[in-house]
Amino acid sequence: MMVEKKTGVLIGGSGLIGGTIVNFYKTNYPNIIDIRAPSSKKVSLREEADIHGYLADVKPDFVINAAMASLGSDSQLACEVNYLGPINLARCANTLGIPYIHISSAATLPAGLNLGEEDSLALSPRLNNYAKSKLMAELTLRYMAEKEGLDYSCIRLAIVYGAHDHKIQGFHRMFFSIADESMPVLFTRKNTLHSYSNAQKLPFLIHHMLKNRAEFGGGTYNFVDKNPVDLATLILTIKSYLQLSLPKEIYIPYWLANSGRKGMEILLRLLRKIGLKATLPPELMFLDSFYRPQTLSPKKLMESSFIDPLPDETIFTRLPELVIYYLTRWSHENQITTFNETIGKENKVAKAFIYNPEFLIDSIHTSGTNLISEMQKK
Ligand SMILES: NC(=O)c1ccc[n+]([C@@H]2O[C@H](COP(=O)([O-])OP(=O)(O)OC[C@H]3O[C@@H](n4cnc5c(N)ncnc54)[C@H](OP(=O)(O)O)[C@@H]3O)[C@@H](O)[C@H]2O)c1
Repeated sequence: MMVEKKTGVLIGGSGLIGGTIVNFYKTNYPNIIDIRAPSSKKVSLREEADIHGYLADVKPDFVINAAMASLGSDSQLACEVNYLGPINLARCANTLGIPYIHISSAATLPAGLNLGEEDSLALSPRLNNYAKSKLMAELTLRYMAEKEGLDYSCIRLAIVYGAHDHKIQGFHRMFFSIADESMPVLFTRKNTLHSYSNAQKLPFLIHHMLKNRAEFGGGTYNFVDKNPVDLATLILTIKSYLQLSLPKEIYIPYWLANSGRKGMEILLRLLRKIGLKATLPPELMFLDSFYRPQTLSPKKLMESSFIDPLPDETIFTRLPELVIYYLTRWSHENQITTFNETIGKENKVAKAFIYNPEFLIDSIHTSGTNLISEMQKK
């Protein structure tokens, strides 16, 4: 039986989450779903006209929003990309009568254990730009579902792990600090539990949600691994995988870490006064969460019709693969130096490039510039 091909538009396709979704559809459903992921240059969430024009042209069957402004963005950028843009997308989706899948974050939740979908921070001007804008998007989407009949699903992610995080944010920033040996001690307290979200599994849920609108329409779902993870255990496991001597198993109390952060804030303010562009590293903005547990309940999703495609996978089972992926990448990008020797050992071309470029250029000129016969045959 011929299945009619559907078109989906995904915003944020160059990111960690968006890239994983595009890859999922291109690999698994190339003949069923045509997934379009325009770059932010072509369709910016900051430009209402871009969104309207593009969606009116493509007339997709569904829209997924996996975009976000960088964590340290100012209020205007955060508001436009994380709040107003998604609301505009949702308005377009509603006008076209198609479902809208929105990716949200545990940043909209307070600290605490076993938080449910009904839990939420109270909206306040004091929230940081990221949490405030993500929370406002959640609130307005819910309002639009009630008042305007918007068909949407909101998926709340906790700390995400997965390959292709080119911006090195969240968990991967912490992983980077360990690999780079720039984390001397533990900036957390014992038994601080957090929930983690597996990027690779998320597209399975999105696909299932799109196929089952009656069940998932209008709902928010936490998407996290079943068991929360102790932060110190995770850091020390990564350290032992990498066979490093740092961080030492010394727990820095919150008051000490926080006074360090405050000192840094004062220094940055002084630097800005003399005209230097200086902002707090995003990971320091989230210092509090290293010391406060936050776990999300997966109960609602587990009780739904969605079947976890990889029930045994956790951040610990994925670590070996992620370690190889990121260390290779960061070494090649010269972002870390610790692993250069071991990774380069087996690679003859890389070795020749470093030590014997004349040999490499000769061999390329001899056998690496001719026409490609396989392509000529086609
Ligand atoms: N990563 C995590 O740990 C985590 C945790 C919880 C929730 N989430 C949520 O997951 C979603 C995706 O996060 P991510 O980690 O995949 O982010 P990411 O890797 O930083 O990617 C962000 C994406 O947003 C796009 N974007 C930025 N500004 C845009 C604009 N003005 N118009 C259109 N697109 C724009 C970027 O495109 P350019 O590269 O072209 O700018 C990029 O494709 C977000 O909703 C985030 O809140 C992530």
